[in-house]
Amino acid sequence: MSQFLSISRAARLVGVTRTALQKKIKDGELASFDGTVTPDDLLRVYPQTQFEDNSEYERITQIKEKAFGKRVFERALPDKEVLAARIADLSKQLAEVDARLKRYDELLQKLSDKLGESVSRHGQEVRAALEDFRDWLTAQLDQGVLEIGEPNPLAARDNVLRVMAAHVQVQPSGHEFFLEGHDTLLEAALRAGVAFDYGCSNGNCGRCKARVVSGQIKKVRSHDFHISEPEIAQGYLLMCSNTAVSDVVLEAQVAGGVQDIPFQQVATKVKSIEPLGADHLLLHLQTPRTHRLRFLAGQHATLHIGKSLSADLPIASCPCDERNLHFHVRRLPGNVFSDYVFGKLKPHDTIDLEGPQGEFILSEKSARPLIFIAFDDGFAPLKSLIEHAMALETGNLMHLYWIASSLDNVYLPNIGRAWSDALDEFRFTPMVVGMDLGNLHERHDERLHHVLQGVVNDHPDLLGSDIYLAGPEIVVTIAERYFLAQGLPKTRVFAGIVG
Ligand code: FES
Repeated sequence: MSQFLSISRAARLVGVTRTALQKKIKDGELASFDGTVTPDDLLRVYPQTQFEDNSEYERITQIKEKAFGKRVFERALPDKEVLAARIADLSKQLAEVDARLKRYDELLQKLSDKLGESVSRHGQEVRAALEDFRDWLTAQLDQGVLEIGEPNPLAARDNVLRVMAAHVQVQPSGHEFFLEGHDTLLEAALRAGVAFDYGCSNGNCGRCKARVVSGQIKKVRSHDFHISEPEIAQGYLLMCSNTAVSDVVLEAQVAGGVQDIPFQQVATKVKSIEPLGADHLLLHLQTPRTHRLRFLAGQHATLHIGKSLSADLPIASCPCDERNLHFHVRRLPGNVFSDYVFGKLKPHDTIDLEGPQGEFILSEKSARPLIFIAFDDGFAPLKSLIEHAMALETGNLMHLYWIASSLDNVYLPNIGRAWSDALDEFRFTPMVVGMDLGNLHERHDERLHHVLQGVVNDHPDLLGSDIYLAGPEIVVTIAERYFLAQGLPKTRVFAGIVG
């Protein structure tokens, strides 16, 4: 049985984020060896670990499930052959440990017998020492020194986790994720926010080709794309057609920026239309299973209804579910697109998407606190960025301000509250300022500066943070200028224009 747990596995066992565990290690509260920890050390630091589903990990999972297009997250058992292979692997390890214990037992008995023989062959002094040692050994054996005490519950839980999920590590990017249920390697990676290159999702294009460095995989879907014998011998496979049986190390390319995401055209269907407060609605579009929209969190797309209606809108959902796309549409009387969506659009109608566009994306490598400021409808791209950060478990401190012209413009307040209730490192501050943020005049500058000063006051460490601003151009421009004037470098202020 495994004595050491990777940080990801350990974090999941005790139900905290990877970052929280890394902090314990950094602060010297938890011993680690070569990026691993032992179940005993882990239990010492987290003695109160609950073994029900109420951990932070579970809470985050629930938030993700709600956020990601209300998809039914498959908490199913893995494919039965995968399950059988994992159980067989655990049984083999158990049998090896069992055999080793028996050998130790026999060895101790032989040692005791050997001592008995040696005692008679030596002089008085050596004999006395040997007798002492033999008596001590006999007493230890009588006291049941080989009996195994209470098993560590975390080690037991880890065995269950090993049956239910495989851990995947990606080279050279260093991303990690767990693969559960019937997921392929590609599906599990996307859920975890890892932006692998891919195209068709069904084995035709070959773009999801990767190499297995170590671990056992299993083909779960046939594919038309040909992989040559020499490539197969080197471990190449299609991530959309294979799952992980054991923990796996994978060599695959992850999108490094918007330049790695192609421009696409996808025909989607309206899955649902839900009101969000008085003046907004949530438009949920679904792509075909085999033709999803690849995008990075924070980007936007153009929606075409028929030949004459179109609008450019930020994608308000996370790329971890590229099939289910959310858009927030504002009621704009007289605007033909808005009028049609509010008055005539129905579930199952077709909407053609083009995109993605935009460079307002998350700086994933940053470990700095993240301050998100949504002005009115600027919430949509920030929601995508925040959900992506959660999927990646970046662990950065996050503070979302939703600065709105009116109360109606804070059209999804519950989601911000749910995030702050669930995550220690998340804060949510909604603010209604009573001025039209899309039509500011110079005389408003001072009032807006006053609001932004509140953000500065909340964050004495502002200069060590990244700030993401999204909303109408005029207010974002004023806010960007304001934060640059505070001394923040341009590379840490990210601006997304909405509307
Ligand atoms: S995504 Fe096209 S073959 Fe896997």
